[in-house]
Amino acid sequence: MVWLVEGKAKFIVGSAFYRQASQVARDLAILSAAIYRSDIGSLRVLDAMTGCGVRPLRYWLESQADWVWANEANLEISSILQQNLGEAVGAGRCQVTYLDANRIFFDCYTRQDYYDLVDVDCFGSPNPYLSTSLWGTKIGGLLYLTSTDGRTATGHLPENSLRVYGAYARSHPAAHEQALRLLIGTVQQQAAMQGLGVEPVFSLFAGQTYRVMLRVLASQSLTAKNYGFLGYCHHCGNYQTVSWRQLGRVSCPNDQKALVISGPLWLGSLHEPQQLTRMISLAQEWHWLKRVQLLTIMAAEADFPPYFYTLGEIGRRGKMDIPKRSHLIGALQAMGYRASPTHINAQAIKTDADINTCIAVAPHCLR
Ligand SMILES: C[S@@+](CC[C@H](N)C(=O)[O-])C[C@H]1O[C@@H](n2cnc3c(N)ncnc32)[C@H](O)[C@@H]1O
Ligand SMILES: [Zn+2]
Repeated sequence: MVWLVEGKAKFIVGSAFYRQASQVARDLAILSAAIYRSDIGSLRVLDAMTGCGVRPLRYWLESQADWVWANEANLEISSILQQNLGEAVGAGRCQVTYLDANRIFFDCYTRQDYYDLVDVDCFGSPNPYLSTSLWGTKIGGLLYLTSTDGRTATGHLPENSLRVYGAYARSHPAAHEQALRLLIGTVQQQAAMQGLGVEPVFSLFAGQTYRVMLRVLASQSLTAKNYGFLGYCHHCGNYQTVSWRQLGRVSCPNDQKALVISGPLWLGSLHEPQQLTRMISLAQEWHWLKRVQLLTIMAAEADFPPYFYTLGEIGRRGKMDIPKRSHLIGALQAMGYRASPTHINAQAIKTDADINTCIAVAPHCLR
């Protein structure tokens, strides 16, 4: 039997699901949960799709969760979960069930037993669980969602995106950020229908997978300002946000060409900067240096416009070599613009400058 170790968890995988590459998503969730636990004084986690059970173990051992409910639809891996979670169950800190996740969310609602953190790590698109997972989450609690359905949200299957997100997704260079924003926007809209709101604590794109940690709010937080459209000009490469009222009369300010429009989607911040600062401190304390680096970039990009420009696109459109990212950011900042790397694409920048400005400064920023 092969035992794996991740964080403080020791577990077997066997025929259960486990991807080592997703550790970054688990690490950030563990940090958020630990901060929540220290703020509120208690933490009850519902891990609705637990796979081999690595998350419940880590929430218990590292985030100091008082109680973890591990659920998994696949009864065939029960012996693996018994082995992995036996100690937590024996310590009175965990229960394991084998049910469909949606039954559990409604069970929580019926019994008015809401969870501080609900983790929904599904395959594909999370839309069957977007509204239902809210039923099991405490007001003020956290909801952690995953999507692996990149093709739909990055504009390769716009009709499918209409079915999944109620939004039309088009393809463009910043489409991975769009996928995060479609996910947040859809939950925001579903929450609003229940009289609730959500705000992103952090949004993560890693390993072709999209994750959002959302805080559930007691009142609706969807507005026409934070839930709207993204416009991209294929002719010059410029982006702009488009409000509901501008629909039908918007064109690119550089060349008056028609924009390709995606949305509606979330236009607000991708992350909550204060929470990221606290996650960085905790990651430093735990010597998680790679996570400190990642979170530092995430904190810097938090409140930029909802798109980025890739260095390749700037080079191609300016008919020059690809500029060096740090030089381009420095040059834009020296001109008074805001500019930052983005965790979503190591070969891109976020800025409030337009594409023509980026192209104009890029020749001075070559390697
Ligand atoms: C991506 S894996 C979970 C991996 C795990 N969270 C981790 O970090 O390693 C998804 C798991 O959800 C289970 N699953 C799929 N649909 C489900 C449903 N509707 N309810 C409960 N579990 C489900 C699958 O059997 C699979 O084990
Ligand atoms: Zn244009």
